[in-house]
This record gives sequence, structure tokens and C-alpha cells, in this order.
Amino acid sequence: MRKNIVAGNWKMNKTLQEGLDLAKGLDAALKGKSLNCDVVIGTPFIHLASVAAAIDTKKIAVSAQNCADKASGAYTGEVSAAMVKSTGAEYVILGHSERREYYHETPEILKEKVLLALANGLKVIFCIGESLAEREANKQNAVCKAELEGSVFNLSAEDFAKITIAYEPIWAIGTGKTATSDQAEEIHAYIRSVIADKYGKEVAENTSILYGGSCKGSNAPELFSKPNIDGGLIGGASLNVEDFCAIIKAF
Ligand code: PGA
Repeated sequence: MRKNIVAGNWKMNKTLQEGLDLAKGLDAALKGKSLNCDVVIGTPFIHLASVAAAIDTKKIAVSAQNCADKASGAYTGEVSAAMVKSTGAEYVILGHSERREYYHETPEILKEKVLLALANGLKVIFCIGESLAEREANKQNAVCKAELEGSVFNLSAEDFAKITIAYEPIWAIGTGKTATSDQAEEIHAYIRSVIADKYGKEVAENTSILYGGSCKGSNAPELFSKPNIDGGLIGGASLNVEDFCAIIKAF
């Protein structure tokens, strides 16, 4: 059976000390609680090692928000998948719309990042999702399918099993405007059907598909009640313990 996952994406927020405080606060809040979902926190690179050392990573897995598309060498400023793994991180978020838009990450670049992440033993949260213009033109299904085909459908079924999909409509990210649970369910079911066409029903049923885009404690219960929504990738509401725990509690 597929896992429920609540994953935080801190983006470019929190100094090291602030991040450590947040991670430790979350660790304390979840201590001794039995959870119905896996919990992941996606921190900036510089926080990874300290956060991983400061919390119970069996309860809260640590994730990077990016990794390089090259294995090693003369790539000033880059951080490789092997380096991420060496910090104690278990996951990496790849293909976020902010990376695609602001840092010009193409499907080909993302394909390389995914391969390097998997080769270095990281699990991948792979983000897909349409812009407002694409939604208004009713192209959301085609966009999501193309993003899967462009960067992860080259994988073997065994490797694809290490991928979690995050559907994040760009128009809902950080805008306070959430997809309705019916809108999200409809496209999640479509995404699962595309995975089933490629890898078969069993792989598709075992793939966790997270919703992202202004997910918070108030809308998480309804979103997570849908059969094809297996959790959330959370930006703004992952930046304090109370808001993030309210989403975890939705499971
Ligand atoms: P948001 O961000 O929850 O702040 O909308 C989600 C994301 O971009 O992962």
C-alpha cells in the first residue's frame, strides 16, 4: 500500500539557528505520537546535516530542495546528490515550479537530477503542475503528463517506485488559492492513470501523489480524504510547528 506523506518545503527561509529551532520544535511536538503519515522536512542545503543530527530521522525524514545535475567536479556553487545523501538526508525535492521558472530547469536537466538522486540512494519528490493560463486553457492533464514523460518515465519500474509525485498547480502556490478537493482529486486520479498506463496498475497504486499549493490545517482534512490524494507538499504552512502539525493531524 502507498504511504501517506506530509512534506514541508521551507524554500529559502530560516537562518541555520531558526531552522534548527523549527526542526527541534517539530521533533518535540511529534515525540511519542503515533502518526498515520510519514513526515518529511525540506530544508535549505546548509541546514541538512545539523537538522538531521538534531532530530529523530526515523520519525521526521530530512529532504533537500534541489541537487546538481552533475555528479561532481568544477561546478562552482553546486551541491551534488552524493553530498546531500552524506548529510543524512533521505529525500530530495526536484522539479519544483520555482526551480523550473526562475532557474530554467528543463525536463532534460531534471531527468539528470533524478537519475543522480536515485543513484545516490535518495528518494525523490518530483513536482509537476500547470500554470493558471494552462488551467484556463484546460491543458492541465497534458502538462502533467508531459512533465512525467520528460523527466521520470525513462526510469525502470523499480526506480520509479522510489519517486513520490507532488501535484502543485502553480496558481495555487503561495497564493492562498487552493485547488478544490474535487479539482485536485480529478487530476490526481488522472496522474495515477497515466502512471498505470506506463508502469501497470500495481506500481500506480503504490505511488504516493501529494497535493501542494496553499495546503493548510483548515483544508488538509478535506483534501486528504480523497482517495487519490496521499498527502501534501507544504510551503508556507511548514514554517511553524503549530501550522505544520495541524496538517499532520489531518491524517
Ligand atoms: P505553499 O507552497 O504551501 O506555500 O503554497 C507549496 C509549495 O510550493 O511546495
